[in-house]
Amino acid sequence: MTDPAPDPDPVSVWHRLAGSRVLLDGFHALKHALRFGAEVPVAVTTDRAAALALAGALAPDVRDALDALLAEVPESTYTSLVPRPHPTAVAALAVRPERAAHLARLTRLPRSTPVVVLDHPRNLGNAGAVIRLAAGFGATGVVTTGMLDPWHFTVVRGGAGLHFATAVERLAVDELPPGPLFALDPEGEDIRGLKLPDDALLAFGSERSGLSGELRARADHLVSLPMRPQVSSYNLATSVAMTLYHWSATGGAPHVP
Ligand SMILES: C[S@@+](CC[C@H](N)C(=O)[O-])C[C@H]1O[C@@H](n2cnc3c(N)ncnc32)[C@H](O)[C@@H]1O
Repeated sequence: MTDPAPDPDPVSVWHRLAGSRVLLDGFHALKHALRFGAEVPVAVTTDRAAALALAGALAPDVRDALDALLAEVPESTYTSLVPRPHPTAVAALAVRPERAAHLARLTRLPRSTPVVVLDHPRNLGNAGAVIRLAAGFGATGVVTTGMLDPWHFTVVRGGAGLHFATAVERLAVDELPPGPLFALDPEGEDIRGLKLPDDALLAFGSERSGLSGELRARADHLVSLPMRPQVSSYNLATSVAMTLYHWSATGGAPHVP
């Protein structure tokens, strides 16, 4: 009989997994990831006592999981593992959910909450803020088109780890899930006179150039947000916030349990 394998050194585990896992940067990203069922093989902090005290105050539901998971490492080790140190000095690696499972969720009908589509988004912080909104409103998922990786660590940081609470994938316009497509554009029909269906795809254009021709061609409706003359447009993430709020305030399904 062979001896049981020794406990793996968390830093070795980190180096072995870093290229193939999702970086959770900061306490809140790790907290949300655990809360929404992420598999987290390794987590580090420079101060276990402080991180567990934060968990006791803000997230008692995941304190025991953090107690079992968090390894304390010297500050120099922590800063060598992350691209940009987080004020909470907590970082972890999580397994990215299966794309096939996400595609099944995104395409399943009937759908009780919308899918948000970001058409060629450019700003990683905006994408993260939108994923956080989608999670908060219980949207079925967030689909991006174009080059931006919606699982980039800066997006995950901006989304506070809430990627694990919704289905986030990158698709081409001709692969979008089924459902009536409502594309948000200042030239569209005033949203205040509309009820957005629960199975809608709610599409938003890029920060620089708005909706692409391809997305416009797939759209069933163009919808505008109220805006006084001479203002060109709203920020992408705030447009998503207003639209999801409108959907919820006009009878959209309540938050998922
Ligand atoms: C920053 S805006 C894009 C501005 C871009 N320069 C353009 O030409 O459209 C990003 C996206 O937010 C949405 N958006 C912003 N303001 C809007 C408004 N007043 N009505 C509807 N959608 C809006 C649209 O989907 C738009 O493509």
